[in-house]
Amino acid sequence: MAYENITCAVKDRTALVTITREKALNALNTAVIGEIRACFEELAGRDDVGVVIFTGAGRAFIAGADIAQMQALPGSMGREHTKVGQDLMDYIENFPLPVIAAVNGFALGGGCELAMACDIRIASTKAKFGQPEVNLGIIPGFGGTQRLIRLVGKGRAKYMIMTAEMIDAQEALRIGLVEKVVEPEQLLEEAARVAGLINAKAPTAIRVAKCAINVAANVDLKSGIAYEREGFHTTFQSQDRVEGMSAFLEKREAAFQNR
Ligand code: CAA
Repeated sequence: MAYENITCAVKDRTALVTITREKALNALNTAVIGEIRACFEELAGRDDVGVVIFTGAGRAFIAGADIAQMQALPGSMGREHTKVGQDLMDYIENFPLPVIAAVNGFALGGGCELAMACDIRIASTKAKFGQPEVNLGIIPGFGGTQRLIRLVGKGRAKYMIMTAEMIDAQEALRIGLVEKVVEPEQLLEEAARVAGLINAKAPTAIRVAKCAINVAANVDLKSGIAYEREGFHTTFQSQDRVEGMSAFLEKREAAFQNR
């Protein structure tokens, strides 16, 4: 499918999805949100893709929800507006394949929220993170008040949201908002390397692990452990389990089936 605000390229079982709305620092308007959703739905149906990398063109990852579009909306539309973004973040968080955010620049507001909905975040040294919504008289509305505390803790989440202060990549690494920081020219290379590591593993195990870890963030330990038991059972019945264990004992590389 052809898109106006994003591109999607597949190589070595990894899809690279890039927002290309550079003139507005890749701000998320409804058109961009719709295209990202359509692209991910298309990727979910492909059997030659195991991992998705998400990034932004130019100097921003995503500078937030589109302020011009929001400014034109009546106050009564808040609930509807936020739901469109929240639904996209939920969709990405629960996407059947791992999604890596390669954060190249500004990840503000909805941009920070989209990065947080991804499974793994790799930042360039040029990345800047923030939840500046209170500057605009609103609160984060694409999951920021909920996902940020799960990643960095309550105090740091309140600090970032209440002060609207931007933090750099090293600080994001220190507080656990990102997993890795690399030089800008190495960002996509490193994201592709990590995608390659994941692509080499048993696909069912990767999918079930993602679900189980997502569940852990939302339920009590006992329920989470019960979920893990079921997930383990699913992987234990898979052909990939037979292949993975046989390959280890036969001292050879495992040849896992694709999806
Ligand atoms: N929405 C719409 N347009 C945006 C935008 C946004 N979030 N962020 C940047 N732009 C546009 C600017 O309006 C500007 O357009 P023009 O050239 O037509 O004037 C262009 O992108 C370049 O931006 P700047 O000239 O401002 O660039 P800068 O280098 O001086 O500053 C910046 C960069 C610090 C990121 C600044 O653009 C900025 O503060 N952007 C807004 C960040 C923000 O508040 N994000 C949160 C949005 S609300 C949200 O996301 C709510 C939610 O949770 C749902």
